[in-house]
Amino acid sequence: MKTLVIFSHPHLATSRVHRTLIDTIDDLPDVHIHHLEAMYPQGDIDVEAEQSACEHASRLVFQFPFYSYSTPPMLKRWLDDVLSYGWAYGSKGQRLRNKPLQLVISSGAPASAYAATGYNRFTMAELLRPLEATAHLTGMVLQPPLILHGVPNIPGLDVTDLQMEKVMTFAASYRKTLQSGHSCIRGI
Ligand SMILES: Cc1cc2nc3c(=O)[nH]c(=O)nc-3n(C[C@H](O)[C@H](O)[C@H](O)COP(=O)(O)O)c2cc1C
Repeated sequence: MKTLVIFSHPHLATSRVHRTLIDTIDDLPDVHIHHLEAMYPQGDIDVEAEQSACEHASRLVFQFPFYSYSTPPMLKRWLDDVLSYGWAYGSKGQRLRNKPLQLVISSGAPASAYAATGYNRFTMAELLRPLEATAHLTGMVLQPPLILHGVPNIPGLDVTDLQMEKVMTFAASYRKTLQSGHSCIRGI
């Protein structure tokens, strides 16, 4: 299965989670990674090239750190620019139809914060509704998301051994998911 990973991280140099994830999957055959901030440092996306890459892929992955309850800005821009009317949706826009869409997300807050009684008040499923709606609009088949909670990236604060173990376990499961063609973990 050809997989296109649309990866957005504005600060990969200081990343701990996503650097580990990328290092864990980047040797897989048939997995192509587009790190948007590295490919488009000026912010202008090559829409034709991205659409062509999507058409050649049989599965899409959106990989990103959760930023302000949403995607980082470059992934939002990718969605705005690449998923155009007449290509991704509309009566003649069916190019993504039936392709599985896998979300791979990390959050600084613990899982317990994403609940009606938690300090973020809403569940991840609720906050991810815009992406669910996008999958629905374009006919992509949303897979159960892979979410790693509770590993913040705060300058001057080291990641604990326990957190790093969680990252490694999550990375191994992510790799397995890409190899097997379906989701094997959810919401660690
Ligand atoms: C600008 C910004 C916004 C963030 N917003 C959220 C948020 O809404 N919810 C959350 O749980 N974590 C939030 N975080 C924490 C990041 O999700 C966390 O640092 C990241 O997943 C760690 O991955 P990394 O090591 O690859 O950077 C935010 C971080 C930054 C820098």
